[in-house]
Amino acid sequence: MSRIAYVNGRYLPHRDASVHVEDRGYQFADGVYEVCEVLGGRLVDERRHLDRLDRSLRELFIAAPMSRAALSAVLREVVRRNGVRNGMVYLQVTRGVARRDHAFPAPDTAPSVVVTARRTDREAQEALARKGVAVITVPENRWPRVDIKSVSLLPNVLAKQMAKEAGAREAWFVDADGYVTEGASTNAWIVTADRTIVTRPADSGILRGITRTVAFEVAADLGYKIEERPFTVAEAHAADEAFISAATTVIMPVVRIDGTPVGTGVPGPVATALRLKFHDFSEVA
Ligand code: PDD
Repeated sequence: MSRIAYVNGRYLPHRDASVHVEDRGYQFADGVYEVCEVLGGRLVDERRHLDRLDRSLRELFIAAPMSRAALSAVLREVVRRNGVRNGMVYLQVTRGVARRDHAFPAPDTAPSVVVTARRTDREAQEALARKGVAVITVPENRWPRVDIKSVSLLPNVLAKQMAKEAGAREAWFVDADGYVTEGASTNAWIVTADRTIVTRPADSGILRGITRTVAFEVAADLGYKIEERPFTVAEAHAADEAFISAATTVIMPVVRIDGTPVGTGVPGPVATALRLKFHDFSEVA
C-alpha cells in the first residue's frame, strides 16, 4: 500500500505531499505538532493529544485550523488510507503561508495542516523494551517554553544526533542546577531504591507528556509511590531503575546513563509493569 499524506485539504501521494516555500513552518519553525500512537488501527489518547494541540495553538496565537471533529476525521482517514494497524500519526499545524516577515501575517492567513501516518514494527519495539535502551546527558539549551509542543526542535535534533553517535537512543537534557529536565523526545523517570517513582513536575522545563499523564494512573493502580520532583544525574546513576515515556515508545526501560549501568543493568520490574499495563489505562478510540 503506497503512503498517503493530508496537506491542506487534500489527500496526496506521499512523494507529492509538499507545502509552499513560504510556509512559516518551513521558514520560521512557526508551528506546533502532535504525535499519536496507533494501536490496532485506532488512535491512542486522541482526546488528550487534541487538548494539548489546542493549548499549544492558543499559546502561540495560531488559529485552530478546523473543528475538532473535522481534525479527528482527517487523522482517522490518514490512518485508514495508509493501512496503519500499529504505528503513529503525525499532525502539524503552522501559521500558514505568507511573504517572509517575522511578525504575524494578516489575520485571515489560513494555518497549514499536514497529517502523515506510518507503521512501526511492534515486535522490534517489544524486543527493544526487553533489552532496554541507553541514554546520554547533554546540557539544557532550549527556550523556557518547552511546555508548547512546537516544531522548533533544533536543540532536540542536535541532542538526538549526539545520542545516536554515542550508541544511545535518547539524550536527557540537564538544567543549570544539575537536574534532568526530559529527553529530546521523551519524558524522563527514575525509580529509587525504596520503589518510589520520580519524575520532574510539568510546571517548568518539560513538556507535559500524554504518556506521562497516563503513566501516573497506571502507577497509582499498581500501588507505586510517585514523587513529582526534579532529580539529578547522580540520583539517576544511583537509582534502581530508569525509563522514558512518549507516544512513540510508550514506557521504555533505560539501562545505561552515560555508559554507566542503571541498577542491575537490565529492565526493572516497575518500568516493565508500567509498560505491560499501559494500554489498559490509555483511551483508545
Ligand atoms: N515527542 N518531551 C518531549 C520533548 C517530546 O518531544 C515528547 C514527545 C514527550 C512525550 O510526550 P507524549 O507522551 O505526549 O508523546 C516529552 C514526540 C513523540 C515526538 O517528537 O516524536
